[in-house]
Amino acid sequence: MNWQPAKKQNDYVQTRNKNFSPPTVNQVLQNAQKMIGPISESPRLDAQVLLAKIMKNSRTWLVAHPKSRLGAQEDVQYRRLVARRAHGEPLPYILGTWEFFGRRFQINPSVLIPRAETEHLVEEALGLLRNNRSVLKVLEVGTGSGCIAVSLLLEMRSLGVVATDISLQALRTAAQNIVNHAIGDRIDLVQTDLFSGIRGQFDLVCANLPYIPRKVLNNLQVGRWEPRLALDGGEDGFIYLRRFIAEVAKVLAPGGSVVLEIGEGQDEEVRSMIRLGFPRAPVRISKDLAGYNRVVVFET
Ligand SMILES: C[S@@+](CC[C@H](N)C(=O)[O-])C[C@H]1O[C@@H](n2cnc3c(N)ncnc32)[C@H](O)[C@@H]1O
Repeated sequence: MNWQPAKKQNDYVQTRNKNFSPPTVNQVLQNAQKMIGPISESPRLDAQVLLAKIMKNSRTWLVAHPKSRLGAQEDVQYRRLVARRAHGEPLPYILGTWEFFGRRFQINPSVLIPRAETEHLVEEALGLLRNNRSVLKVLEVGTGSGCIAVSLLLEMRSLGVVATDISLQALRTAAQNIVNHAIGDRIDLVQTDLFSGIRGQFDLVCANLPYIPRKVLNNLQVGRWEPRLALDGGEDGFIYLRRFIAEVAKVLAPGGSVVLEIGEGQDEEVRSMIRLGFPRAPVRISKDLAGYNRVVVFET
């Protein structure tokens, strides 16, 4: 079977041939795995997830039905998705959805793909918020798909959130997720540069800002597919974190807290920035599952 990516409808003329026998689940998975192998650390999983999408069934069903045959249309559609993945496109963008904190989010190439390590930021924020029983106001800066803000709102019914982003396209995606999760009455979206034009005081301000140093980013695959606006932290990686820490006081309620995601090896620099602006604030840094210092928490 030819598993080169087909470019036009004519390439599939075989599917109209009377003798054409549709491939089985097992056959297409094996071929897909071979194609995806060079660019993915999990080619088998990727191949299964894409086929499950096309066949509108679960991965478990695929494993239990290796001899089931694809319909001709399914075969064509599957080849297209596999070709995209083999070309390097991240699986979440092909699927159009990704899971974060146990819930499904719509995503597209205008937003960062939600990361497992960012769930850690949500856990830290919830830990702080749950100690407080009053109605609380949260500001999230750089919301992207809205995965952090939406997760906080769904976990805590007494929250109100303002979520910002400089990218209008990102905010459109966040709006879609807000509608899908039916929480529109407790969140406002604002297009702005960090805190510019943000009024009011917030009990908790959180952010996962772009923090990858530009030179490092230029050599990473993520920079090819995900928005640079979401990743590029300027020459040293601290361009947004530095501004954020210098300006956050003006939106913090008395005794308010800050939760920030940082990159690997950025903890000491961020700690000194906080010490400058908030000399008396205790700073706590917690590790992600890979053991990197990932989330910075300070209470004012
Ligand atoms: C690392 S992504 C985080 C997205 C999402 N919060 C998440 O954790 O998956 C950073 C986000 O900050 C936004 N951003 C970049 N520069 C910004 C700025 N100056 N002001 C506000 N948002 C900004 C980007 O558009 C992007 O959506």
